[in-house]
Amino acid sequence: MANEQRIAVVTGGSGAIGSAIVTALEATGHRTVVLGRRSEISCDLASESSARQAAAEVLARYGRCDVLVHGAALVDPMPLSEFDLDRWRTLMAVNVESALWLARAFTPGMASRGFGRIVFISSDGQWTPPNGGFLPYVTSKAAMLGVMRTLAVTYGGEGISVTAVAPGLTDTPLARSVVEDGAIEAVVTRQAMKRPLLPEDTASTVAFLASDGAQALTGQVLVVDGGIHMR
Ligand SMILES: NC(=O)c1ccc[n+]([C@@H]2O[C@H](COP(=O)([O-])OP(=O)(O)OC[C@H]3O[C@@H](n4cnc5c(N)ncnc54)[C@H](OP(=O)(O)O)[C@@H]3O)[C@@H](O)[C@H]2O)c1
Repeated sequence: MANEQRIAVVTGGSGAIGSAIVTALEATGHRTVVLGRRSEISCDLASESSARQAAAEVLARYGRCDVLVHGAALVDPMPLSEFDLDRWRTLMAVNVESALWLARAFTPGMASRGFGRIVFISSDGQWTPPNGGFLPYVTSKAAMLGVMRTLAVTYGGEGISVTAVAPGLTDTPLARSVVEDGAIEAVVTRQAMKRPLLPEDTASTVAFLASDGAQALTGQVLVVDGGIHMR
C-alpha cells in the first residue's frame, strides 16, 4: 500500500466543485476516477442498477477504491406546496442512495486493506436557516450527515474514516442558476471572511480529509462557509 497510488472515486467530478476536488486529489498523489453521466465511468446515479454497475466497473478496471468522494447532486427547487414524489425520489437517489451503493461496494476492499476514506459533500443548510424552496435538497444534505455519522461508527474499526464537507454558497454555475442575482455577493457581506467562496475552498478541505494527516478525524463535518454559521 505504501508505494501504491491511491484510487479516488469522485462522483460529480465533472462539476464545478467536483472538478476542483479531482485537481486537488491528483495534486496530492491520487489516481482519480470520475463517475457521472458524461464521465470516465458513465452512469446515472438516479438509478440503483447504474450506480451499482459503475461501482463494479471501478473495481474491474482499477481493482480498488481507497477514497470515495460523493459530490454529485441534484438541486431541483421544490417548496412543500409543489411537492412531487417522483422528483423527490430522483433527488434522494442521486444525492443520498447512490452513495450507499458505492460505499457498500467499496468498503469491503477498504476494510481488507485497513485504509479507506469516504467524504460526503453536504451543504451549510444545516447551520444557516434553510430556504423553504429547497425542501428536498436541504433534506437530502441533512440525510447525508446521518449516513456519514453512522458509517463512521460502523467502519472506524476497519481503518475507514467517514466525514463530510459542508460548503457555504459557492460561486459556481449551479449556484448562480438557482439563486437570485446578487445573492452570492450579499452572502459574502454576512461571512466573517469577506470574499466569495470558491470550488477550491471545498476541494482543498476534501484533499486534507483524504490525507494521512487526517487519520484521527472521522464522523465530523467541516463547514467551509467563510464563517457564516457563527451569525
Ligand atoms: N455551489 C454551491 O453553492 C454549493 C453549496 C453547498 C453544497 N454544494 C454541493 O457541492 C456539490 C457540487 O456542486 P456544484 O455547484 O459544483 O454543482 P455542479 O457543477 O452542477 O455539479 C453537480 C454534479 O452532479 C452530477 N450529477 C447530477 N445528477 C447526476 C446523475 N443523475 N448521475 C450522475 N451524476 C450526476 C453532475 O454530473 P453530470 O452532469 O456529468 O452527470 C455534476 O458533476 C453538490 O453536492 C452540491 O450540493 C454546492
